[in-house]
Amino acid sequence: MRVFQTDLLCIGAGLAGERVAVEAAQAGFDVICLSLVPPRRSHSSAAQGGMQAALGNSIMGEGDSPDVHFMDTVKGSDWGCDQEVARIFADTAPIAMREMAYLGVPWNRVEPGEHTYFKGGKPFQAKEKAENAGLIHARAFGGTAKWRTCYTADGTGHSVLFTLDNRLLQLGVDVHDRMQAEALIHDGQTCQGCVARCLRTGELVAYLARATLIATGGYGRIYRATTNAVICDGGGQIAALETGLVPMGNMEAVQFHPTGTVPTDILVTEGCRGDGGTLLDVNGYRFMPDYEPEKAELASRDVVSRRMTEHMRKGFGVKSPYGDHLWLDIRHLGEKHITTNLREVYEIATNFLGVDPIHQPIPVRPTQHYSMGGVRTDKDGAAYGLKGLYAAGEAACWDMHGFNRLGGNSLSETIVAGRVVGAKIVEFLQGHDSVFSTAAMRDAENLVKSRIAALCRGGSENCFTLRNAMQDVMMEHVGIFRNGQDLEEGVEKLQDLLERCKNIGLSGTSGSAFSPEISTALRMPGMIKLALCTAYGALMRTESRGAHTREDFPERNDQQWLNRTLAHWKEGDSLPTLSYEPATPWYEIPPGERGYGGGKIIAAEISPGMIKKQGA
Ligand code: FUM
Repeated sequence: MRVFQTDLLCIGAGLAGERVAVEAAQAGFDVICLSLVPPRRSHSSAAQGGMQAALGNSIMGEGDSPDVHFMDTVKGSDWGCDQEVARIFADTAPIAMREMAYLGVPWNRVEPGEHTYFKGGKPFQAKEKAENAGLIHARAFGGTAKWRTCYTADGTGHSVLFTLDNRLLQLGVDVHDRMQAEALIHDGQTCQGCVARCLRTGELVAYLARATLIATGGYGRIYRATTNAVICDGGGQIAALETGLVPMGNMEAVQFHPTGTVPTDILVTEGCRGDGGTLLDVNGYRFMPDYEPEKAELASRDVVSRRMTEHMRKGFGVKSPYGDHLWLDIRHLGEKHITTNLREVYEIATNFLGVDPIHQPIPVRPTQHYSMGGVRTDKDGAAYGLKGLYAAGEAACWDMHGFNRLGGNSLSETIVAGRVVGAKIVEFLQGHDSVFSTAAMRDAENLVKSRIAALCRGGSENCFTLRNAMQDVMMEHVGIFRNGQDLEEGVEKLQDLLERCKNIGLSGTSGSAFSPEISTALRMPGMIKLALCTAYGALMRTESRGAHTREDFPERNDQQWLNRTLAHWKEGDSLPTLSYEPATPWYEIPPGERGYGGGKIIAAEISPGMIKKQGA
């Protein structure tokens, strides 16, 4: 087996991975990034609408501050987040955003003078100030008190990723693409890198690293209908979970984006509603203000997705061969706005749906979009359970999102966490030498080899059949609205699928060569374990909080559930072992009403010692 050695191994080269890599490389450390695809095709490039940071440059952002951003984030999380982390995030976001401008991101800028903006379909006039000319502009997004989402048209992820990737090239960071991380190398105490499989040749390669970062994004592909790319298969989370030492946090917290397209499940950005787009039902009626009088289409995503589903359940959905949907209407924004600020949406609608959004509404419905759960880390991004292992971005449960992430806070998290965690990794590398264990490396190699050998024994199960079955179970049993009976059945079905994974065989070539089938087959048991962490966590959490909605437990129960689920997986088990830790070390904002979404709260007494003054 070929062996590479480096200071920092980044598994994943999307925005979070690249931002961490930049931090370490700038400090003079050797970095290798692994990626399933060429980095510029990472899923970060699909992020459209923007990144939240309290810059307050636009007239509609006046009075904004990190305090307001922090408050929106905590409310958005339904008090499920770690407030210490949310505070670090909100305070750092403006700096991180300006840094990206320095590196070359072509942010949309404030143009002074009168502008026609839209809110809830209605135009209004606003005057941008002359002294703010050329500063980074921001648009409205859901669940925010101010316009705070910095953007480059609706290709924000694309432009930030290309900018960071340029910086990576400038710094000479090695990127090994088409590499699939299969197993972490560890001695039970310390992570020492990983064994990866080359997707072109099937070769196994060992990467020995003093620090290892998991930044592989989300695991949305455990669902059938997801805005996530095919590469969002949870590879990094699986490698961590399967050590038996590293827990996942809050896996039951799954976000459905209100506007996935029908039937292709491609995202059309929340920026459409932020810029004034509305949601219409089968009768062309704008229904959201009836449910959410104040925020309407711009309540937080969990709320809008629930309301849309509720409305369709009442019979107001549009019937289609692909199931019911609603309409997203941006026609009133006009051709110029649609073909400039929403040009990706324009292209997606015309090319993938045959819909011209200048003249026609876009068919949409809530679609799996984001994993709030992931590799549980502390505030420095250090994973629980193994020294030298870190996680950042969607792959991590850092945990600034709690049970519902605000739109625009994840793209922002990638570069903020990348900056913060990157700096902590640099400190770690400066103060830490490694003793690499060849035994640990061989253990990881043998583990992967034994899995490949098992697949080549001619088992009768097909990995794609199992994958489809898992995705259907997740859609039917672990969706937007959940209940105990559905979840129990879902868990049983997933356990059955996990058992069947022992008998996966390959229909095609041997395990040593290029084969998309073997890549999927190797992932399947791990993906089903992630699905089980999600479904079982949801079954055990007998309350409704953020995106986790239990029809049989509709209250947010702060007395019992102001905590975070930790899921460990012990080798040979058919269910994760769950435990719980407090959601936050202290409250700057004690639990209260979100101001949208309704619902009852079973209030908890928070001891005065847990309350921290703003800014203290
Ligand atoms: O709607 C969007 O543009 C998505 C942004 C996000 O997920 O933060």
